[in-house]
Amino acid sequence: MPAPYDGTEKQEPCALVIFGATGDLTKRKLISALYSLTLQRRLPEGMVIVGTARSEMSHEEFRRKMRDAVGEFARGGPSDPKEWDRFARDLYYLPANHREPESYLRLKDSLSHLESKYATGGRRVLYLAIPPDQYGPVIQQIAAAGLAGRHARAGCWTRVVIEKPFGTDLETARELNRQVHEAFDESQVYRIDHYLGKETVQNILVFRFGNAVFEPIWNRRYVDYVEITAAETVGIESRGEYYERAGVIRDMFQNHLLQLLCLTAMEPPVAFAADPVRDEKAKVLGAIRPISPADLDEVVVRGQYEAGAVAGKKAAGYREEPGVAPGSATETYAALKLSIDSWRWEGVPFYLRSGKRLAKRVTEIAIHFKRPPLLLFKSCSVDKLNSNVLVMRIQPDEGISLTFEVKPPGPEICVNSLCLDFDYEAAFGAALPDAYETLLVDCIRGDSTLFIRQDWVELAWSILTPLLQTGRATRNGDLAGYPAGSSGPKEADEFIEKDGREWRRL
Ligand code: BG6
Repeated sequence: MPAPYDGTEKQEPCALVIFGATGDLTKRKLISALYSLTLQRRLPEGMVIVGTARSEMSHEEFRRKMRDAVGEFARGGPSDPKEWDRFARDLYYLPANHREPESYLRLKDSLSHLESKYATGGRRVLYLAIPPDQYGPVIQQIAAAGLAGRHARAGCWTRVVIEKPFGTDLETARELNRQVHEAFDESQVYRIDHYLGKETVQNILVFRFGNAVFEPIWNRRYVDYVEITAAETVGIESRGEYYERAGVIRDMFQNHLLQLLCLTAMEPPVAFAADPVRDEKAKVLGAIRPISPADLDEVVVRGQYEAGAVAGKKAAGYREEPGVAPGSATETYAALKLSIDSWRWEGVPFYLRSGKRLAKRVTEIAIHFKRPPLLLFKSCSVDKLNSNVLVMRIQPDEGISLTFEVKPPGPEICVNSLCLDFDYEAAFGAALPDAYETLLVDCIRGDSTLFIRQDWVELAWSILTPLLQTGRATRNGDLAGYPAGSSGPKEADEFIEKDGREWRRL
């Protein structure tokens, strides 16, 4: 297990092969992250980056495309031509078509040449930045061409990075895992959830287990409920076709929201290392009370946005978006109540909500503590005290705040809510690194703590299966409309209010 990264460790050179090098993810995220890591000197000396996709293209053409992409998407852009040249020197393009096995053999040959030139010692990261329906066929070709490196000699390794979604339900996830394991050992597999690479998400465990004051109250005795929100102002952009099949439960809950829940609810691991951390996260999922189809009304509200206005700009309804069926019953919003049957969390509901085209972009975890048992300050005008709320702001305005009650100066004994606030920018200044930078470095170092294990993926799907099976409801059935730019359907407010609780305002 590699030691925690302190930015100084010397890493051995390796080859990074990006499958899907002409696609959106490479353009928007990967190449910018790699360039930014080069600027920070955080990639191994002598590393070679190879893009591959079906199109024929020269190395130079690929470099030009990538330079444009970095100009558009990188933090700061390629301001220094010298730095860009330094980066582009080690960037190559090799065409390969997964429908033609010979083309993978050619890829292997050309890659071997580059690997000898760069003396990478057979160390390889294979990054699958391809559409999910190509995972199976591409993995098969990788294995058939002898690129999977399952039985590597010491010091030489192959790792495969797989993007979400890992399947579309339990059955397809199992099938994908089966295909992956035909080619790779689980220890070679790095399943990405980019939320885990966010600084603020990594900080959840440091905050919880690096401070003695919070952990003793992080349980059913003191916590009333937990609220996890991932609200977006964007709609589905140009992803209508994908989104129609996915919906918010597959797109956000099965991965990002359940990861946030696990980090919030898990027990301390025996060590801060990949398997102990992942064991504890899997235990949380294992303890979530199964959702019975009969209780669906009690645990979920689904919604779909209608025409409205976001930040003063008109926004079309979901059914008017390109690629969406006029009578679509895909949910763009969901609120879910989960119970964790564990010693720590018995009786503490976890409310999760996420949606597109909401009033504000905000991802946060709010721990609502119980109220004091008695209202001592009878003379004050309030009939009940506010509860303390600890909010971990994942994005934007990254930080942590704690609300508490104080007496404002004056002759009367009154109580007012105030807030203790920690703000990343004020505390640390520099912009936070992109999640992909963190995840790429971790994968190159062989640290899989922030990557998802097979058991977690399958447990997550099995929790949500009852929601997916009945998921295609009609608008008049259990799919509630909400205007774009609002806080979501009113049914979601009623849903939490009937438990005597409320959502934080967006
Ligand atoms: C992706 C989803 O996984 O996460 C998108 O497919 C969503 O629909 C995105 O917009 C949100 O990520 P972030 O980092 O912007 O919160």
